[in-house]
Amino acid sequence: EFMKEASGFSVLEQSVKDKLHVDHVIVVPGNSDEVDWVKQEMGKAAIGFLRSILKNNQTIAVTGGTSMAAVAAMMTPLENAKNCMFVPARGGLGERVENQANTICAEMANKANGEYRLLHVPDPLSEESYQSIIGEPSVKEILQLIRQADVVIHGIGDAMTMAERRKASEEVLQRIEAGNAVSEAFGYYFNKTGEVIHKVRTVGLQLEDLFSSQCVVAVAGGTSKAKAIMSYFQQGKSNVLVTDEGAAKELIRE
Ligand code: BG6
Repeated sequence: EFMKEASGFSVLEQSVKDKLHVDHVIVVPGNSDEVDWVKQEMGKAAIGFLRSILKNNQTIAVTGGTSMAAVAAMMTPLENAKNCMFVPARGGLGERVENQANTICAEMANKANGEYRLLHVPDPLSEESYQSIIGEPSVKEILQLIRQADVVIHGIGDAMTMAERRKASEEVLQRIEAGNAVSEAFGYYFNKTGEVIHKVRTVGLQLEDLFSSQCVVAVAGGTSKAKAIMSYFQQGKSNVLVTDEGAAKELIRE
């Protein structure tokens, strides 16, 4: 029974891989829209993957969100990756504290026996404060770490869900709607073909930086996120996807 299931999932994983053109796909059983612990299973799978690739002294940039919170919840000491440094991928994006990258990053580091640095930036940022903040030596130092991260691990959200969760202004909501935004990741909103419709102004990782990182892992599941996952991967900036059966089946159906 187990073998049958394992081979069944490897076919599903291969189909998703072909559909999204990514290097590696992991699918866990279930649908996180319906059953809460499926997210924890994705977290566990993401940690398993991280354990297989991380080496000593590497830097890992993480985003916020409930999927990433599940990854942090499942973190264990990383014996093969000593002295790892965890950093938040980007500054304030309007999330609640428990969903913030800073919180998740510190939890991951503590459980992995690693180090962390945090980004404390006001949110939202005016153009003026943005310019002066990136000039601060302490911020500059961490920004350098972030932009050179060896591994990036992030969530993908449905555009409207994320804009509302972050209490975006009426103007931003309108822009997102008018641009037919479908997905969101790192504070960037993308349309169906993966073009950027809107970007939250904050410090940290910029989309271009993803091209220079060899390993960018997305963790996102649930049938309701299939469209968002599809949209985000149109421009192919991440090369690994950890998802669930709910999203995977919907992805290959489309
Ligand atoms: C945000 C991340 O905090 O969480 C985004 O910055 C991501 O990259 C979002 O889209 C996803 O949240 P969740 O709760 O659906 O995992």
